Amino acid sequence: MPTAVAVAHPNIALVKYWGKRDAGLNLPAAGSLSVTLAPMATTTRLTWGKSSDAFTLNGRAASGRDAARLSGFLDLVRALRPDLGGAEVVSENNFPTAAGLASSSSGFAALALAATHAARVELGPAALSVLARRGSGSAARSLVGGLVRMDGGRLGDGSDAFATQVDPLTDWPLQVVIAVTTEASKETSSTDGMTLTQQTSPYYPAWVAGVEPDIDEAVEAIASRDFDRLARVAEASAMRMHACALGADPAVLYWRGATVDVIHTVRALRRQAGIPCFVTVDAGPHVKVFVLPEHVDRVNRALLEVPGVLRTILARVGGDATVRIEGS
Ligand code: DP6
Repeated sequence: MPTAVAVAHPNIALVKYWGKRDAGLNLPAAGSLSVTLAPMATTTRLTWGKSSDAFTLNGRAASGRDAARLSGFLDLVRALRPDLGGAEVVSENNFPTAAGLASSSSGFAALALAATHAARVELGPAALSVLARRGSGSAARSLVGGLVRMDGGRLGDGSDAFATQVDPLTDWPLQVVIAVTTEASKETSSTDGMTLTQQTSPYYPAWVAGVEPDIDEAVEAIASRDFDRLARVAEASAMRMHACALGADPAVLYWRGATVDVIHTVRALRRQAGIPCFVTVDAGPHVKVFVLPEHVDRVNRALLEVPGVLRTILARVGGDATVRIEGS
């Protein structure tokens, strides 16, 4: 059996996905909007025809809940071609895993691409995005580069809930400075955090109702290359997602002290130094700061001075996921 090698970039949402309309099919309650990032990437090698599934993630064998989630995902490909048997999967990230740095987005995008290509199962872009979504909602957005819109869809089978590129952003070189505030894995997964939020936060209906208008606003802001307008809507989406999560019982709290200090620093850069920049925060304590290239150095220096910021990662807009076949 051939080995497929897929490379996918993680993405960061400008308008967040937080809540599901169907947990079984992993259908989002609303759409979302993201930017695919480079040079961060997941590289996944996969070969079918083994007696059972075996996963090596960043040099370690996966077991328990992680392995069960991955095997469950591969079952979706085995349902398309039942003779595949088990798969040997070796996956590496060139960035920290499971600390709110969106590793599941690139991870399941690369796995969907490698698993289908190694099986010679031909899926179009929409069907591939639907498959990646079953692994992780954000993964549906990591198959293509640039600015990507996820459609929440309406159909019960989820066939209309997939992501497409809105803009390759080749002429608008947005950059992201990621302030890393811990090297530890996060305590509450996105899946668990959003489930608890959905079940217990009184703010959840208001959150969901605001998502589609925010996506439209952000798409218009980007179409007119209006950084300040994008900053307002994207920061509001992140803050409202976390406000909604804080309303859960018990509260879903991803922030650390350094997270809040970085947010204050970015506000000061904007208000006092007039530097266009804005924050977004996902299901972890790190802060991602969007900025245009001419201000990267200044923002990076300011973030590195914040106590509790361990290091920064610089990212730019990334491209499409890729796949190649080795052997025959
Ligand atoms: C905060 O895609 O990790 O990053 O579908 O349950 O696997 P599952 O969730 P996941 O959630 C991402 C949440 C977020 C916001 C976003 O990326 O839109």
